Amino acid sequence: MILFLIVLLPSACHCADPDPLQDFCIADLKATISVNGFPCKPVSEVKSDNFFFDGLAKEGNTTNVFGANVTAADVLAFPGLNTLGISMNRVDFASGGVNPPHSHPRATEAGVIIKGKLLVGFVTTANILHSKVLEAGEMFVIPRGLVHFERNVGKGKAISLTAFNSQRPGAVVLPFTLFHSTPPIPNDVLTKAFQNVGDTLAAANDSVPDHDLVMYALEGLPPDYEAFVTSITNRVEPILFPELRSRLLIHEQRIQQFHPIVSTDAHQAFFTDR
Ligand code: GLV
Ligand code: MN
Repeated sequence: MILFLIVLLPSACHCADPDPLQDFCIADLKATISVNGFPCKPVSEVKSDNFFFDGLAKEGNTTNVFGANVTAADVLAFPGLNTLGISMNRVDFASGGVNPPHSHPRATEAGVIIKGKLLVGFVTTANILHSKVLEAGEMFVIPRGLVHFERNVGKGKAISLTAFNSQRPGAVVLPFTLFHSTPPIPNDVLTKAFQNVGDTLAAANDSVPDHDLVMYALEGLPPDYEAFVTSITNRVEPILFPELRSRLLIHEQRIQQFHPIVSTDAHQAFFTDR
């Protein structure tokens, strides 16, 4: 019996993508059949370029409500990863930007800070938060499936590179999963599940210094708010967040009035919805 269990154990503990059965298998993303992963392109069509990817060289656009951008180098972006069980991300952070709480159902994550200073944290299944502020060159690991986040706590921009033991780690991004699913999770389920969250968030918000909120809001605004940002930053008296918020609302209303067809940038929704 013990021998039987020992024989079974390695396969029962298999916890990353399956091993490849050939040197490489460049994903044919257009294949009509579906397998666990992607079918391979015919070897005769494989080129050197299939093994190289420059997508992580480019800075991501952090002009969004989170002030962060994830550029994925997974099998969908880089088909050469197919069957190799690995992938990477580049995450760019604006000042104060957050990679919101999320988990990767299919991979453990290892990361290194390339630039800036990040608060990195994950929560165990026993609800213990492990977190630390890391600087360039320092590493972190997030065990598979656990909820984690990063926040830029440095002065300027920050960048991290992350690696996964899956060609497609997947991401469950909690704010989207919980509040933007299709169709939505029924309201009564969310209301019952998050009874005290409103108060907790309000209390947490009170503890963020006002000038941090102002900086975060200004730095996250899109380029067409440049004149607005300049007028606020040139003030002699520093502005408080509630005043900034109402000025932004007035500014947006004026834009709507004079240019009714404006971009549906996430920041507008962020401010007008609140
Ligand atoms: C960071 O958490 C990432 O998923 O790249
Ligand atoms: Mn992650």
